[in-house]
Amino acid sequence: TNLVTLDPGFVNTAACKSDIAYIDGDAGILRYRGYPIEELASQSNFMEVSYLLIYGELPTQQQYDEFAGRIRRHTLLHEDLKQFFDGFPRDAHPMPVLSSAVSALSTFYQDSLDPSDSTQVELSTVRLLAKLPTIAAYAYKKSVGQPFLYPDNSLGLVENFLRMTFGFPAEPYDVDPALSRALDLLFILHADHEQNCSTSTVRMVGSSEANLFASVSAGINALFGPLHGGANSAVLEMLEGIQANGGDVDDFVNRVKNKEPGVKLMGFGHRVYKNYDPRAAIIKKTADEVLSKLGANDPLLDIALKLEEKALADDYFVERKLYPNVDFYTGLIYKAMGFPTKYFTVLFALGRLPGWIAHWREMLDDPARKISRPRQVYTGYPERAYTPIGNR
Ligand code: CMC
Repeated sequence: TNLVTLDPGFVNTAACKSDIAYIDGDAGILRYRGYPIEELASQSNFMEVSYLLIYGELPTQQQYDEFAGRIRRHTLLHEDLKQFFDGFPRDAHPMPVLSSAVSALSTFYQDSLDPSDSTQVELSTVRLLAKLPTIAAYAYKKSVGQPFLYPDNSLGLVENFLRMTFGFPAEPYDVDPALSRALDLLFILHADHEQNCSTSTVRMVGSSEANLFASVSAGINALFGPLHGGANSAVLEMLEGIQANGGDVDDFVNRVKNKEPGVKLMGFGHRVYKNYDPRAAIIKKTADEVLSKLGANDPLLDIALKLEEKALADDYFVERKLYPNVDFYTGLIYKAMGFPTKYFTVLFALGRLPGWIAHWREMLDDPARKISRPRQVYTGYPERAYTPIGNR
């Protein structure tokens, strides 16, 4: 029992068995429940992918309609929860607002907190899927000082989110189908990625039998970090920094290679992919298309393309098998859609939600489940005698 293996960052340690996502990092393969990400991206939609991840199979039409219908019925936030947003400063980062509001759901929806009751698990699942886009839109509205919009349940989940974010109460808002399809696609690509930092967090918190809202709130905080979901905002800031310095890509790459403190090629590298991230490949293909459809001609895209080309040909990146990851091109698309840089990671959270829920539920259903409780290798003092404060 005293035999403990040290594995910082869980590089080699599997914490669970899982049926949800499969990654082959050397071959650049990602599948959800066995389906290649490329097929889901080109043929499915985010609602269907959410169902697939959570319930394990693609839905029949009837199952799909029923699922979408249940989510539609839960899009409203409790009126009192709306006041919660007023408690934050106007310039608050939307990620802590999002995680706080999700945490607060467990005070408003106390009839769906018991993880051992399958009816309550189902109710919390649907509530969270339905309410997170509303919370995210309210976090945006709060940050720009505009009034909140109630959900319009004649719209689909993504269209509804876009309307609540960019619409105004007294004006009709025509959702641009190119925009909603592009966002739907990005949500599909973010929907699961097995034991990443935020998903592991959701599982770890959930392993104590904490409720779904508490577990996902913790996951949102894990996602906030710049090495994880925060990378999509960091990429855009990096590209803007290069642009402000006259667009010198070579100079930037040299600074990365010289390991200047705090200088990394954001949006590059991955713990599991040692090849092109298949999600990045799809996003790169669509970025050009989406940007031109949205009428955006962003000089930052040229910088990104040059940066990628330069890095892929450079020994530093080749030797370390560093390739663009999912975050490298997404920021440019989000920017073209009209989202502020600070908001990008919220979009990642919206996409990742069905994966978090699927893992939380899979963990609960696992008969071999145990509370997460890693061991450590103690490196502190051996026993020593207490010194009274006057003698120190
Ligand atoms: N720029 C420059 N050097 C890098 C980068 C990078 N983006 N990523 C890794 N390296 C170097 C690293 O310095 C190390 O070099 P050395 O052996 O000389 O010390 C080597 O490559 C191995 O890197 P590592 O840090 O040991 O790898 P890791 O698996 O612990 O970290 C990572 C993975 C994603 C945190 C890291 O690649 C990184 O910080 N990337 C930039 C942030 C980013 O884009 N994150 C998004 C990840 S994908 C989706 C998501 O989770 O949001």
